[in-house]
Amino acid sequence: MVEQLNAVVGDDVVLGLGLSLLKHLGLMVPAMKSAPDFSWQGLDIPQTPSALCVWVRGADAGVVALRTRKIVQQLAGAFELIDELDGFLHRNGRDVTGYEDGTENPVGEAADKAAFVSVGPFAKSSFMAIQCWQHDMEAFEALPLSARNHVIGRDLDTNEELDDAPARAHVKRTEQDSFSPPQFVLRRSMAWQAATKMGLMFVAFGASFDAFEAQMYRMTGSADGIRDALFDISRPLTSAYYWCPALDNNRLVLDGMLSD
Ligand code: HEM
Repeated sequence: MVEQLNAVVGDDVVLGLGLSLLKHLGLMVPAMKSAPDFSWQGLDIPQTPSALCVWVRGADAGVVALRTRKIVQQLAGAFELIDELDGFLHRNGRDVTGYEDGTENPVGEAADKAAFVSVGPFAKSSFMAIQCWQHDMEAFEALPLSARNHVIGRDLDTNEELDDAPARAHVKRTEQDSFSPPQFVLRRSMAWQAATKMGLMFVAFGASFDAFEAQMYRMTGSADGIRDALFDISRPLTSAYYWCPALDNNRLVLDGMLSD
């Protein structure tokens, strides 16, 4: 099964191994776990674990489609495809609501520090949190521009952070520097659309799941009673955690992780 996984590794693929697969392979990754139940006071956030997440990336939708088809064939017999979704880059990285996403992502060394384990046997591996958010575009479009800006906490046109944004504005809730200690992740979310439904496939990479969870508990309101205004116009349909092993020469680095 590891050889099947190695066969699909490539620069255009992000491979996330779920907890059930790690257990099946007898691999011990101590910081790995299932996504907790983030549901809180009327918010239903489904837990949707799976054995494997394969994210095929590329600029040409046809190339991605054919590569995906090949991967499904390569993994057949060991894995069953249970869900699939096409993402796309919208206006250079904007959410379909029009807001720029990723502005406050760490860059350079700070990005490496946030996204990857830095030392030890798990160095250069990463913990990936994924949630598929579906927007209520009607509810969003019914809001006047000032109210939309207050949902995010930034100006739609200039992307400036708003001084008068309410405490429940999304960027107020998730401001990475406002945590003690600061809680940084590297976000690589993408817009998605399927017939009339659309939203954001939220993807965050971390050296652990701690920063993502701190942000999520603030967003739901379970940390301090203030719920993120994003929930007025969107909701997560899925919530799952994966571990992305380091790669060496296009092979997964799994040495020394076998449990007794
Ligand atoms: C519908 C889903 C979401 C949408 C549309 C969305 C959109 C945005 C936008 C437009 C920004 C401002 C620009 C930027 O710095 O990237 C932002 C910031 C941010 N979001 Fe989200 N987001 C969503 C879900 C989430 C989730 C689930 C988390 C983590 C639990 C999260 C964490 C963050 C963080 C950490 C920032 C940067 C805050 C800062 O340090 O200023 N977002 N998001």
